[in-house]
Amino acid sequence: MRRLIEQHEIQQRVHALGTEISNLYRGRDLTVIGALTGCMLFMADLVRAIDVPHRIGVVQASSYRGATTRPGELTVELGLLPDIRGRDVLILDDIFDTGNTMEKLVTALQSREPASVRTVALLVKEGKSEVEMKPDFFGFKIPDAFVVGYGLDYDDDYRHLPFIEALDEADL
Ligand code: IMP
Ligand code: MG
Repeated sequence: MRRLIEQHEIQQRVHALGTEISNLYRGRDLTVIGALTGCMLFMADLVRAIDVPHRIGVVQASSYRGATTRPGELTVELGLLPDIRGRDVLILDDIFDTGNTMEKLVTALQSREPASVRTVALLVKEGKSEVEMKPDFFGFKIPDAFVVGYGLDYDDDYRHLPFIEALDEADL
């Protein structure tokens, strides 16, 4: 594994994002909605860096790659979503790769009639997007590598690491 982003760099960047986001939503009814499970570490740190009152909630986005389902088919589970009608929503995910997950989340949440929907991703992979949209806020641009840590997993391992590492071919 190769260290890509150190813990202190993440902490600094997340604090700067918190300030930027606070300035935008001051005086508004903000709800931050994280996409499980990758959102957990980023969301826990970011919401503590947002100094305007806000609510938090989660949704689950999964892609099924089993033999019975189309590869990469995405489902969004809104069972845990709090009421967002008329509120400003900030959707948070660990990484924006092809962007299909984020786009699907935006569409799903728009059906609940929020006042606005914006997006934040800790990481954006360069040159991979398959969608028109871009995250409104992001932490770091990274080259096309498979990364783990700070919420991101490989087969559900490594999420707890406080830094980001790239897995080499030999690790996979
Ligand atoms: P997208 O729909 O292609 O943008 O992918 C988004 C989802 O794929 C993320 O929420 C992650 O769960 C997963 N993902 C994409 N790239 C990586 C990676 O490099 N490491 C770990 N998970 C990834
Ligand atoms: Mg994942």
